[in-house]
Amino acid sequence: MYTKKQIVEVKILDLGDKNQCFGRLDDGISIFVQGTAAVGDIVKAEIFKIKKKYLVARFCELVKPSPHRIDPVCSYFGLCGGCKWQHMDYTEQLRLKRKQVQDALEHIGSFSNIECKPCLPAPELFGYRNKMDFSFTDLRYLTPDEMNIEPSEHEKPLDFALGFHAPGCYAKAIDLDLCDLSTEQMNITLNTTRAFCLRHKEELPIYSTRSHTGELRNLVVRQGGNTGEFMVNLVTSTHNPELMQELCEDLKAALGDRLTTFVNNTTSAKNTVAFGEKEYVIFGPGFITDRLGDYTYRISANSFFQTNTAQAETLYLQILKTAQLKPTDVVYDLFCGTGSIALFASGHCKKVLGVELIESSVNDARENAKRHNVENCKFIKIDLKDIKEIRQDMADFGAPNVVITDPPRAGMNPKAVKALLEIAPEAIVYVSCNPASLARDGQMLCEEGKYQLVHCQPVDMFPQTNHVESVARFERIN
Ligand SMILES: C[S@@+](CC[C@H](N)C(=O)[O-])C[C@H]1O[C@@H](n2cnc3c(N)ncnc32)[C@H](O)[C@@H]1O
Repeated sequence: MYTKKQIVEVKILDLGDKNQCFGRLDDGISIFVQGTAAVGDIVKAEIFKIKKKYLVARFCELVKPSPHRIDPVCSYFGLCGGCKWQHMDYTEQLRLKRKQVQDALEHIGSFSNIECKPCLPAPELFGYRNKMDFSFTDLRYLTPDEMNIEPSEHEKPLDFALGFHAPGCYAKAIDLDLCDLSTEQMNITLNTTRAFCLRHKEELPIYSTRSHTGELRNLVVRQGGNTGEFMVNLVTSTHNPELMQELCEDLKAALGDRLTTFVNNTTSAKNTVAFGEKEYVIFGPGFITDRLGDYTYRISANSFFQTNTAQAETLYLQILKTAQLKPTDVVYDLFCGTGSIALFASGHCKKVLGVELIESSVNDARENAKRHNVENCKFIKIDLKDIKEIRQDMADFGAPNVVITDPPRAGMNPKAVKALLEIAPEAIVYVSCNPASLARDGQMLCEEGKYQLVHCQPVDMFPQTNHVESVARFERIN
């Protein structure tokens, strides 16, 4: 019989649900191991949950490493929720990413006849992100070692942190000096902003998720991967013009002319989402541009843009290949963000209707079409939960032959999937950053026998993490 806190030795056989590792003990019972184990490792793990058919344990010690194990480069590895796979070589990361998509399609979507293609690798394994969203918290996350230090002996304040939340710990953040997925400029900005905010602690207290008072919420940095343009966006509760000007001078001193715009977004929302209700442009144009293929896109602070510029072009070319567009096709680009997929598709079809919820993204999309003299794209602001509005616009624009849909992680609202089934385009290209959502929505598309899944291509947009993007093609069965 097993007991809580018991240490067991186990060989990791596979990756399980929620990034847990999976193994079997000698008596055949399944064990899920949380923490930094890798497939192929033999580890010691401490049991903390005992169920009838399985155990859940925490990784404590490496007994024999997997041949795919490597040394993580980041000193926050294992604490920070960002890069969970830095301890595996890239070949293994790609294998597991493909497997996650294949498993979700089989186990969640009940697709038994589909063979996912090998995951397309990213060209850069570190420093690839064009956007970083750092959080301020008034509770610094402490490592187990730091917890034993007297409060007065800590090198850093306990009530200030600027960095990332530790997994499952939203009130606290790890105070980061450096992130290996960020660019050098982003790390300079992080440290310059931290120093400024610590100097102005009285005037700029940190927003507290407990009392809902305070100012500092998020520091968001964006850097055009192909243009180098650089935006700093400080998200606060209210706007303080003098202090923002002062911070701007510090940023200019640290970054020189690499800083191209600085904005201050304010929000009264009682959450930690880095989304401004009001924007104050302190320096520069208030947006950056980035280039993908033949197109240059305007990107505002609140607009979505693929976070890995170098790999976004691979993704979009894959979407085009999967869509198999004809010059007569009417295309819908659902969840279109700044219109980047729509513009890529515009030269290969008759016309594109882009649909998006966020106003600044719709404005950016219109501006992006205008700056390239693209006249066959129309962009509308619609909440895709509301199927009635899609129908109304469809009557004006014409029904689509091909729909490209790229929803957020949670996937599509079931009502929107139902609407797609009623619209019945010849092909649906589903782009997804969450294999489980793709599998669930895909099953709904296919369950009445009107569509079949014919192709699924995983693409790695996020090396070192357990995230994977996929492009899937569903075809109408006539
Ligand atoms: C994964 S992003 C895709 C953006 C775009 N296709 C691209 O490649 O840059 C998802 C987009 O869906 C938008 N969105 C989220 N919920 C929405 C909704 N209910 N209705 C319409 N758009 C929504 C977000 O603002 C975001 O721009």
